[in-house]
Amino acid sequence: MSATAQKPRVLDVGCGINKTPGAVGLDRNPASRADVIADLDRFPYPFRDSCFDALRAIHVIEHVSDVIRAMEEFHRVVRAGGEVLIVTPHYTDFSSFCDPTHRWHLNSFSLRYFGEDHGGYSYYSRARFAENSVHVKLLSLWRLLGFEWLINTFPRLRRWWEYYLCYIVRGKVIEWRLTVVK
Ligand SMILES: C[S@@+](CC[C@H](N)C(=O)[O-])C[C@H]1O[C@@H](n2cnc3c(N)ncnc32)[C@H](O)[C@@H]1O
Repeated sequence: MSATAQKPRVLDVGCGINKTPGAVGLDRNPASRADVIADLDRFPYPFRDSCFDALRAIHVIEHVSDVIRAMEEFHRVVRAGGEVLIVTPHYTDFSSFCDPTHRWHLNSFSLRYFGEDHGGYSYYSRARFAENSVHVKLLSLWRLLGFEWLINTFPRLRRWWEYYLCYIVRGKVIEWRLTVVK
């Protein structure tokens, strides 16, 4: 990077006390490390259109009141081509239902409604993201036995796992890397 190149502007929503170094942190909790105290359930978020190069939402989407509106705001505040990282528990993980502040319990196809053909449900939202990657972490035992590699290497196998096997071979965390399409 040249000396004159600008550092990417990153927004870390629901940053808590683990704010990404160098990012602008947003949280509603004043005891967090947030730079901006705001509520992700109140729209619009206090940022101009396309003012960030990237956004991170780590263990946050499961807390918001409206996933579709939150994703639309993520889409609005990040520039075209910017990257959005979403991390959330898989719905078969212990933590998904254990935490009473979790409103949503998602699987690895839950964001397809913002993808290529909006998962066939284009009336849900006009916001579009390209899916660069989706990675599912499994509980350690299943990872050691190679299941994690299999489902992440073969997308059709991941779908089969979601349909038939995930209540036995349980998931842990889902990570999506998306690119904003405008
Ligand atoms: C499980 S913590 C994750 C914190 C951090 N991202 C991490 O990975 O350590 C969820 C965070 O989201 C914040 N949060 C939840 N709902 C929110 C909302 N509606 N508006 C703003 N922040 C919210 C909480 O205050 C908390 O800091």
